[in-house]
Amino acid sequence: MAVAFFDHPFLKGHHAPQRFEADAPDLIIHGELPQDLAGVFVRNGPEPLHPPREGDYHWFDGDGMVYAFQIEDGRVSMRNRWVRTEKFELEKAAGKRLFGVFGNPMTADPSVQGKRYNTANTNVIIHAGKLLALMEGAPAVELDPRSLDTLGEHDYGGTITTTFSAHPKVDHFTGELINIGASINGPMGEPEIRYDVIGPDGSVRKAERIKVPHHALIHTFFVTQNWVVFPIIPIDSDLSRYMSGGPMTAWVDGRPTKLAIMPRNGTAEDVRWFEYDPRHMFHECNVWEDEQGRIVADVAAANGTALFPNQDGVRRTHAETLQSLRRWIIDPKANTAWIKEEVLNERDIQFPRPDDRLMTRASRQAFGNINLKSRDGRADGMDAVLRFDTVTGAEDIYHFGEGASAGELIFAPKLGGTEEADGYAMTLVHRANEPGSELAIFDAKNIAAGPLCTVEIPFRVPSGFHCNFYAADSALYRGAYGAA
Ligand SMILES: [Fe+2]
Repeated sequence: MAVAFFDHPFLKGHHAPQRFEADAPDLIIHGELPQDLAGVFVRNGPEPLHPPREGDYHWFDGDGMVYAFQIEDGRVSMRNRWVRTEKFELEKAAGKRLFGVFGNPMTADPSVQGKRYNTANTNVIIHAGKLLALMEGAPAVELDPRSLDTLGEHDYGGTITTTFSAHPKVDHFTGELINIGASINGPMGEPEIRYDVIGPDGSVRKAERIKVPHHALIHTFFVTQNWVVFPIIPIDSDLSRYMSGGPMTAWVDGRPTKLAIMPRNGTAEDVRWFEYDPRHMFHECNVWEDEQGRIVADVAAANGTALFPNQDGVRRTHAETLQSLRRWIIDPKANTAWIKEEVLNERDIQFPRPDDRLMTRASRQAFGNINLKSRDGRADGMDAVLRFDTVTGAEDIYHFGEGASAGELIFAPKLGGTEEADGYAMTLVHRANEPGSELAIFDAKNIAAGPLCTVEIPFRVPSGFHCNFYAADSALYRGAYGAA
């Protein structure tokens, strides 16, 4: 018999798990679906099959559930499936949770000691013909692009067997997938990361190991045409701190942000370290090199975080740790190892995104879901979406209404389009007191006008993490689905 979930901010409201899989062909569309929009919108997020054992939960801990919306021939269909990792299958067979929160071995059932904690819940991408569900603590998991059936962990021919980033970058100019693996030696081993370059054919061209100061949560990293940057923020996982009664994962007060800069084709010996004030930074919009050769990184950053407690167990509030869109300038030629920071936009932003085709090169438009009126945007939902012009500073905002929860807003190119932001922007949204959710599709250059159309989803899709759109005429789409 299934046990009821307990009361927790990330297990109720917009976050309440639905715990079912569906096929919904030919969804009802309100408004006009643009004729030059076709492709697939995929999203991953946490959907816990069972309540955790400890009576505590973390938003990052649910089992991955992938939603795929196929947009073709003027129709939209939807399918969602759990990612059937070994963890998921073991717990489904047992009819209860077996792993500890975040895979903590101290609180796990003895039957899963030594088994891999892979939730595959954070992102879902297409590269080299494969649809991959990703979390940062385990290998990528390959899914069938159409059926979403789980095909198993993909270890790149035995090359990438430990951890795989939830935010690898596709360089659309080279077709490469640039990746990292964090804490590749485990929480008790030497703190070390692995930097991978995966060719457009899926072959691993480079796998370089780099020592880092501690077991930081390295949720993202930067790639430009010539550089790669590994930001080490002041959040770490420390098993010995946990054994002493402290939090396993914590923000460590007073610890600077450290950034390892390396030529993209370089080695660990080429790494140069930069520093800055303590910053929480899990997501960048885009990163590139300016005409002076400086690395320009537009990031969502804050001076602390409410996602994890401090090392002494004290937790800050969302209001105390609001993120804003900031520009970090790193000058590889400078005599100083200090970076510069400028606030571009002060809105409480969650997931900033560029026109993905420009990743690694200069871009101007930033898209994002933001919090206008919610008390706690992470738990209560981000209730609006934003396009921000980083050159003019102009904002283009749409508010979904009080109590709404909008997911990541991503850019979707129109068929045949090549100019930056020439196309659409879309997000999954649940409006307060509505039984279902919507896929809201905007003109990317006029968000304030409201959605051009909304695709009606006949049930609430729980708030999730990351999504991506692959246009039907893109090389990445054709690699996975064939010619449109
Ligand atoms: Fe993320």
